Amino acid sequence: MIDNSFPGRFPATRLRRLRGQGWIRDLAAEAELAPRHLIQAVILREDDAPAGPIPAMEGIKRASVNDAVEMAQNAWKNGIKALALFPHTGKEARDPEGTAALDSDNLMCRAARAIKDAVPQIGLIGDVALDPYTDHGHDGLLRDGEIVNDGTVAVLTEQAVVLASAGYDVLAPSDMMDGRIGAIRKKLDHEGFTDRMILSYAVKYASKFYGPYRDAIGSRGVLQGDKRTYQMDPRNSAEGNREVTLDLAEGADMVMVKPGMPYLDMIARTKAAFNVPVAAFQVSGEYAMLRCAAAEGAFDFEDAALEALTCFRRAGTDMIISYYATDAAGWLNQ
Ligand code: PBG
Repeated sequence: MIDNSFPGRFPATRLRRLRGQGWIRDLAAEAELAPRHLIQAVILREDDAPAGPIPAMEGIKRASVNDAVEMAQNAWKNGIKALALFPHTGKEARDPEGTAALDSDNLMCRAARAIKDAVPQIGLIGDVALDPYTDHGHDGLLRDGEIVNDGTVAVLTEQAVVLASAGYDVLAPSDMMDGRIGAIRKKLDHEGFTDRMILSYAVKYASKFYGPYRDAIGSRGVLQGDKRTYQMDPRNSAEGNREVTLDLAEGADMVMVKPGMPYLDMIARTKAAFNVPVAAFQVSGEYAMLRCAAAEGAFDFEDAALEALTCFRRAGTDMIISYYATDAAGWLNQ
């Protein structure tokens, strides 16, 4: 005899009833993806630098300051709340110390001022790291073959102030040096920028999925060695919690997991353990995977791209940096 003494036994419970029609699927849906969850990534270029193509990133162009203003207007119109900016730098403008990072008239600063003039309501997130500016392609200072921690942190605090002065609302250190969040918070407060937020790239892995980005910002062929002495080992998970614990204690307002899709477990783990705003970066290699597969006819780009973003939300992401944020917002608004 079949034991029906507790609910959940077949056939009393048929989960397909809740999937039978669109209206009930919508009513019962758990995660929601809306334009307000998305942050548009923008690769900036000087006016005389090539817009593209960026290998494996079909559909993405480097943006001049004027292009970036247009992107900001378009993003805002579609319900996007913020842009995350990154600068392309040619070899000639790079040096061992990444000096251009501290130039208050550099590309990042000029773009921020122009965007804030045109679209003052939009949030601006500035990448704090030296890799777009160093001639060795590392995020920090290289001394005798090693990336030095504390010397790098001192420069990053200056870079954060330069970016804040140009109008960035959020400083996002992506460098993975120890102690940089506390040092940047202290420096920002000391300089009167108590209102500026810190989005820490806390759970950032040494990942091959950054490949196309290296082309995008001009680091391809420049980077010496790899970043495994400062970025996390892809085998590690508990270490991510230690990173987040430290960064929150040092004053981070929000934390990021990066890359996104291969690391959804870390998004879920971070959200569950800390319950603070969690961002995820759907990085260049993830974009390339979707684009290249779509180009091969594996699926429709729009369908797969929206599914991927939805999965970030299901995993517990509050905000997602993506190269197709504005396009996705447009599709969602239709
Ligand atoms: C480094 C930085 C990287 C990205 C953003 N900031 C690459 C790296 O750590 O080598 C990657 C973004 C992407 O792949 O889309 N400061």
